[in-house]
Amino acid sequence: MLELAGVDTYYDRVPMLRQVSLRVDEGEVVCLLGPNGAGKTTTFRAITGLVPAARGQVSVMGRPVAKIGTERVAALGVGLVPEGRRLFPDLTVRENLWLGYQAAGGGNAFESRLDKMGAMFPRVRERLKQAAGTLSGGEQAMVALARALIGGPKLVIMDEPSLGLSPRLIDEYFEIVGQMRESGTTVLLIEQNAERALRVADRGYVLLKGRVITEGRTQELIEAEAVRHLYF
Ligand SMILES: Nc1ncnc2c1ncn2[C@@H]1O[C@H](COP(=O)(O)OP(=O)(O)O)[C@@H](O)[C@H]1O
Ligand SMILES: [Mg+2]
Repeated sequence: MLELAGVDTYYDRVPMLRQVSLRVDEGEVVCLLGPNGAGKTTTFRAITGLVPAARGQVSVMGRPVAKIGTERVAALGVGLVPEGRRLFPDLTVRENLWLGYQAAGGGNAFESRLDKMGAMFPRVRERLKQAAGTLSGGEQAMVALARALIGGPKLVIMDEPSLGLSPRLIDEYFEIVGQMRESGTTVLLIEQNAERALRVADRGYVLLKGRVITEGRTQELIEAEAVRHLYF
């Protein structure tokens, strides 16, 4: 569903990602770990085509991102939860969800999808008519996830969704990721919170200074010296 093969990226002339290769297959929950500044968000931007790959290939659903264009990635069945959520604060929750539905290709099932999201996120349902910017951080995190899920994506990519949430809300958030996993949704979870991410993922990659330094099954990563050194 997703593959990066030997990807290099630059900011101006400064190299950022170096030879990054990773893949996510159908039904997997894969985490991408790494400390602040490692290049996690750059990887997210490379996947969505916002940062071009100077070398290597990025493909989503078997199609090269460079050819399909950023605005069409969601329409291929990819739900995106960007860093910092990026809701439209002055639009209502319902309008934010509507935009997510349109980005995924639209159609005439918005109301029934909205009901489904309401059942999954009861607190989002209570806030549909409120401006998104007036919600608490935890509620905004749930709206951002509902916006990614409302189009019924095959693959969901989340960039540090738990950042800034209280421990209780982090529990709630990872509970939902667990449910997505049960329902067979494919997930790329980008996280600094290695402990939590490794509990829910099948496999993972560790990024450091723009390079993948370790990859493997979660149990292997938990035991890996490099990961211990970074996190535990
Ligand atoms: N737009 C940009 N222009 C120049 N440098 C950037 C830009 N965005 C990020 N960087 C730099 O690239 C590196 C990786 O950033 P990022 O991918 O955001 O890391 P992470 O998400 O892992 O914290 C950092 O050193 C950051 O300062
Ligand atoms: Mg980041």
